[in-house]
Amino acid sequence: MALALNKEKASRGFLIFIFIKPGGFMDQSKGILTQDVKRKLIAKRDGFFRKIGNQGIALTYDDVRLTTGYSEVLPDNINVESKFSKNVGLKIPIVSAAMDTVTEAEMAIEIAKLGGIGIIHKNLSAQEQAAQVARVKYHLNGFIDKPICFEENVSIGEILAYKKEREFNFHSFLIIDSNHHLVGVLTKNDFDFCEDHSLKAKQVMTKKLITADPGTGLREAYRLMKEGKKKALPLVDKDGKVAGLYTFSDVKRILFGDSKSFNIDRDGRLRVGAAIGVYDDAFERVEKLVSEKVDLVIIDTAHGDSKGVLETLKLLKKRYDIDVLAGNISEPESAQRLCRAGADGLKVGQGPGSICTTRIIAGIGKPQVSAIYECSKVAAKFGVPVCADGGLKFSGDIPIAIGAGAHSVMMGNMLAGTKESPGEFRFHQGVQYKVYRGMGSLGAMESNKGSRERYNQGKNDLVPEGMEGMVPYKGPLREVIHQYIGGLRRGMGYVGAGNIEELRTIAQFVRITEAGKAESHPHDIIITREAPNYQKQV
Ligand code: XMP
Repeated sequence: MALALNKEKASRGFLIFIFIKPGGFMDQSKGILTQDVKRKLIAKRDGFFRKIGNQGIALTYDDVRLTTGYSEVLPDNINVESKFSKNVGLKIPIVSAAMDTVTEAEMAIEIAKLGGIGIIHKNLSAQEQAAQVARVKYHLNGFIDKPICFEENVSIGEILAYKKEREFNFHSFLIIDSNHHLVGVLTKNDFDFCEDHSLKAKQVMTKKLITADPGTGLREAYRLMKEGKKKALPLVDKDGKVAGLYTFSDVKRILFGDSKSFNIDRDGRLRVGAAIGVYDDAFERVEKLVSEKVDLVIIDTAHGDSKGVLETLKLLKKRYDIDVLAGNISEPESAQRLCRAGADGLKVGQGPGSICTTRIIAGIGKPQVSAIYECSKVAAKFGVPVCADGGLKFSGDIPIAIGAGAHSVMMGNMLAGTKESPGEFRFHQGVQYKVYRGMGSLGAMESNKGSRERYNQGKNDLVPEGMEGMVPYKGPLREVIHQYIGGLRRGMGYVGAGNIEELRTIAQFVRITEAGKAESHPHDIIITREAPNYQKQV
């Protein structure tokens, strides 16, 4: 009888008027950031980093600040949309780190709802990781790829009983004939106006349908349903068989309701990424992840400029039609090799993380702002977005990372300790904390192959490259992200950038001293009330 195929799914920135000091670059009369202005601003910033680099110095967040510029940009009107990879966009430029105390499905769902993206960590089997991805992808009901279908001779009574038994709260069911061809749809109206439940589906169903081809996107589906005044849009393949279903209420909610800020794919599902290793690990995971419709994968290693990463990247790009990001790196030559090998996005950061000891135990790495600047400069030539991974402490570090060339930031510490992070709670001296640990920490490597592979280590005689600890409980992610994006918007307002691309173009840096840094933080005061966006560093 019932052929239940699946029940389980169920400003732009405006032109800115920026005037950079007398003799500056803006044609104020036109108020336009011209190509010439852009070139001059980029050259000025290049000069700053060249001068620093020529002295053999590299800078990080606490070494610099952005300079302010004339601005008519209002923080609330700023567009913070960006890109994480060539084909995956972001509504806010924040990515949650692929760490076992930061991103599993709960975090990934919430951050995608806030406009960012979460990367499911790889201290899980391939199966478990794919299941986490599936939880995110099925969280919204934009596109139903295996809708419930009933054969045309099933009675309305049987269908209603089936619906009740499974507690379905939707009302559109597809009706098929014995050859599995779509013949009609049962809608809410059909059920409401049917008084004789012994009637068969084919006697009650709506036969006048509109259908669309497989592959129809969310917006096109909305247009077709609106024009045809239909509440359901079945997708039908060339043999007349059902290949999916859109329902009007879900599609409308996703496109225009309170889900407008969600980061969704073309089928209206929340976006999510997953971390993978190299060679066999990568192929085993990607196969499963792709079948759950993961949006992108990241070859996530401590040293992205290595043979294994480059070879795996090339093979994945040949075999799969999916964005593959690679990292981590901190040198421009590494960016060049990965871009040439086909990377759709780069992750920059070797050792800046709050739980990292790589720079200390191995003596390598480059302070993060210089690393972001140098790698972004190369990646830009290939049109490859850069994500600044690790080392951020305050919201003000976000505009700095983007001003140095990044398109997004990846956060571990700043998102660990939220309600949605997977870490355990701890109480310490009456204060609530959550566990946060490095993927290269002893604990993570002892218990997980994924962690050992990230640091290229075997099972025994481990040499950790990270620490285990805890961070203060921060409350719901929504409140935390509100502060981070609020800080970013404010920074962009001070600089005069109406969108992320403008920030990447016009940002100018000044180097600060220890005295400048001390002056920047609250000083000469006993703080009596904590602000939600400023905590003394633990
Ligand atoms: P934050 O500063 O946001 O950094 O806590 C998160 C990033 O740090 C990287 N990561 C590590 N790096 N040893 C390292 O050297 C580790 O154990 C470790 N665990 C995570 C990773 O890139 C993450 O996104």
